[in-house]
Parts: sequence; structure tokens; C-alpha cells
Amino acid sequence: MTVLVTGGAGYIGSVTVEALRRAGQPVVVVDNLSRGHREAVDPDVPLYVGEVGDRALIRRVVDEQGVEACAHFAALAYVGESVEEPDRYYANNVGATVNLRLQGSAYAMLAQFEDMLRHYVPEIEKVQDVMDAIPKPGLETPTGKAVREVLDSRINPAVAGHGGHISLIDVRPPRVYLRLEGGCQGCGMADVTLKQGVEAEIMRAAPEINEILDVTEHAAGSNPYYQPGKGGASPMA
Ligand SMILES: NC(=O)c1ccc[n+]([C@@H]2O[C@H](COP(=O)([O-])OP(=O)(O)OC[C@H]3O[C@@H](n4cnc5c(N)ncnc54)[C@H](O)[C@@H]3O)[C@@H](O)[C@H]2O)c1
Repeated sequence: MTVLVTGGAGYIGSVTVEALRRAGQPVVVVDNLSRGHREAVDPDVPLYVGEVGDRALIRRVVDEQGVEACAHFAALAYVGESVEEPDRYYANNVGATVNLRLQGSAYAMLAQFEDMLRHYVPEIEKVQDVMDAIPKPGLETPTGKAVREVLDSRINPAVAGHGGHISLIDVRPPRVYLRLEGGCQGCGMADVTLKQGVEAEIMRAAPEINEILDVTEHAAGSNPYYQPGKGGASPMA
């Protein structure tokens, strides 16, 4: 398991790198060397010089090095300086976008979370689900656009009547990844909705797709439209 150590050229990060290597773990470092030292990273350890906020870089490191875990130490870390220059510390250590790991009914409250966080921390520009923070080039392809179009124009208007929503998470032909939200999450008819309605609609619009994967945490759904024993029907059936 390759471990990405951000800030691995700094004090805590470089000690962590050495400890991981002693434990036999492959390690890779991302550090912008603003405070760290190239010499603190053994030449055998791949060192990518750059910003932790650079998503394209992090994506490349993960893909090239097969990263499966991350120990995050990249930060400006001087207490006195942070009091004198809070904006600089906020921008470097937090960034303007807050990525939340949302689960269950929390998806439906994203707008309220954003309002609250921006009220207390005006520097925040955007709040999003961490899944939406990962670059997904597949969504910009003709197939990705065709799938989005069918979701926007046909599927979501149909499930909206049941208080549901289906988000397009990624398109990687032959697969499409969806997340069922609101009344669709935890719904006992979700499988039927997916198989008989959504899957058929998507495959008709994009024949190169042959698998629809549901990444919803259904067990966390707080207000499913249909619960077994309650009765009901899929909006797409
Ligand atoms: N040193 C301590 O005793 C101590 C104690 C508790 C917690 N921490 C925390 O551990 C973390 C690391 O502290 P440290 O003492 O090793 O600091 P450090 O300055 O020695 O190391 C931080 C490293 O992060 C790099 N870095 C900073 N911003 C970056 C960015 N945007 N992109 C890429 N790299 C970046 C720097 O170049 C540096 O190599 C901090 O969050 C700190 O608050 C440190």
C-alpha cells in the first residue's frame, strides 16, 4: 500500500516518511518546499514538488504511484505567524473550497451547511461533497454529456414527484456511477427504479454504457419514498 505523505519534506512529514519506510511501506511525497527541504527526503523516495491544493497534481500522483492512503502534514505551522497573517494561513491550510464527506440525509442539507459555514467564515467560496471535488473528465465527454442530458430532462423530473433526485457521479464507459438522494435514498423500490427505468433510459441515450453502478448509502436514507411493507411503486417503473 503506497502512502502519500504531504509535507513530507518538513519536520513531522519527514519523520513519518522514515517511519513508514522502516515499516516496509512504499511512500511518495508532495511538498511545495516553501518551508521544507529537498534533502530531508531520501533520493529513493519519489518527491513531487507542488501544491496540495493542485487537484490535477494529486490525481497524477495517485495514478502514477498507486496511492491508497494519505498522511497529510502539508501546512504553514507557526503559531505566531498564523495570528499575524490569518488570511495567508487560511488560504494555504484550508483553501477557499470546503469539501465535506456527506452521508445520508446530509446531502439534502448541503445548501444550509454552505450558508452557515460562509456566515461564520466569509473566506469560504464554496462547500461541496468530497466526491464532487475529484476531477472527472468522463463527465465532459460526449457520452458524459448524453447521460447528464437524459438525467436532467427525463429521469430527474420523473423522480422529483417522489421527492427524489439522482446525481451523476461519474461516467467511465462502459460504466455510469449514480447516487440516489432524497426520497430515492433507502427506497425499497430503488433497484426497480434503476433497473427498469434509469438503466434503460441511459443505455438508450448512450449505447456504449452497459453497467449502472449505484454508489448510494441506502441504509442512511432518512426519508425513503417506499419502505418495504409500506407499499408504493417506482416512479420510473
Ligand atoms: N511540529 C510540531 O511539533 C507539531 C505538533 C503538532 C502538530 N503539528 C502539525 O503538523 C503539521 C506539520 O508541521 P511541521 O512542524 O512538520 O511543519 P513544517 O513546516 O516543518 O512542515 C510542513 C511542510 O509542508 C510544506 N507545505 C506547506 N504548505 C504547503 C502546500 N500548500 N503544499 C505543499 N506543501 C506545503 C512545507 O514546505 C513543509 O515542508 C502542521 O499541520 C502542524 O500544525 C506539528
